[in-house]
Amino acid sequence: MSERVVVTGAAGMLGRAMVAALSAAGWEAVPVDRAALDVTDLAAVRGACAELKPAVVVNCAAYTDVDRAESEPERAMLVNALGARNLALACLDVGADLVQVSTDYVFSGQKGTPYEIWDPCDPINAYGKSKAWGEHYVRSLLNRHYIVRTSWLFGPGGRNFVDTILQLAREREVVPVVDDQWGCPTFTEDLARAIADLIRTRAYGTYHVTNTGSATWYELASAAVRLAGLPARVEPVPTSALSRPAARPRYSVLDPFPLPHVLGYRLPHWRDALARHLRVAL
Ligand SMILES: NC(=O)c1ccc[n+]([C@@H]2O[C@H](COP(=O)([O-])OP(=O)(O)OC[C@H]3O[C@@H](n4cnc5c(N)ncnc54)[C@H](OP(=O)(O)O)[C@@H]3O)[C@@H](O)[C@H]2O)c1
Repeated sequence: MSERVVVTGAAGMLGRAMVAALSAAGWEAVPVDRAALDVTDLAAVRGACAELKPAVVVNCAAYTDVDRAESEPERAMLVNALGARNLALACLDVGADLVQVSTDYVFSGQKGTPYEIWDPCDPINAYGKSKAWGEHYVRSLLNRHYIVRTSWLFGPGGRNFVDTILQLAREREVVPVVDDQWGCPTFTEDLARAIADLIRTRAYGTYHVTNTGSATWYELASAAVRLAGLPARVEPVPTSALSRPAARPRYSVLDPFPLPHVLGYRLPHWRDALARHLRVAL
């Protein structure tokens, strides 16, 4: 069998980490960025898969601007839902497996305890809705899939919360950060390594892949500012203090079961991951 893995959205934050992790794990990683392949173009997606004949496709292409999706819901659907459908159809054509990267935002956050892989999707914003439809298309069109839900990504090579907070902390004395939303911060490097391991298992299905441990945005920001040695004070504020176009889930912590049984290990704690990220990034 071919050991070739195509990574779509390869110039994005996860896409870059994914290509590196696949190469480190011995796969032949083929990075495909948006300029090379627009996932909304079904004919182009089918053509690329026919030409490249991958064993696996990892879809890291996505419309990720959660607030802008509220005013561009069709654009979000085109990329996140129909783009995933296009890849599922193309994988079906060539017998490739598909990893569809998804999000904790497919959940409302109302459950109050960690979300399990079996919990039904109930998104509360346009981005979450488009990602939930992406999952639906992949599940219904292609048996050999992995849906990998992850959350609160940070890492090199992309716009992310940790970098934004550190930039603000360099410019201001006080940085207000929301303290009533909980999630699982996740390092792209750890996530990518787990995906590279997961695709060896052929244990198809839905997975929650995040670093271990949960936090509020305030806790994550405080840890980042402290590790960076910046003097700024991080101030906890309620979500109601900020007015943003998209509603956010209040508690979108993801339960990793059964991932540790399938991989044989747990991902590191997010505090450990953050320290590793900042050791290189700072
Ligand atoms: N970031 C998070 O906190 C987070 C949390 C949970 C889940 N996720 C999921 O993780 C995955 C990776 O996210 P990320 O943070 O790496 O996002 P990212 O940095 O925004 O990368 C997404 C990439 O997809 C590309 N793209 C957009 N539209 C495309 C299209 N039509 N065809 C091909 N490529 C297209 C983007 O290119 P342009 O830059 O040119 O638009 C970008 O390079 C996504 O599925 C996302 O939903 C992310």
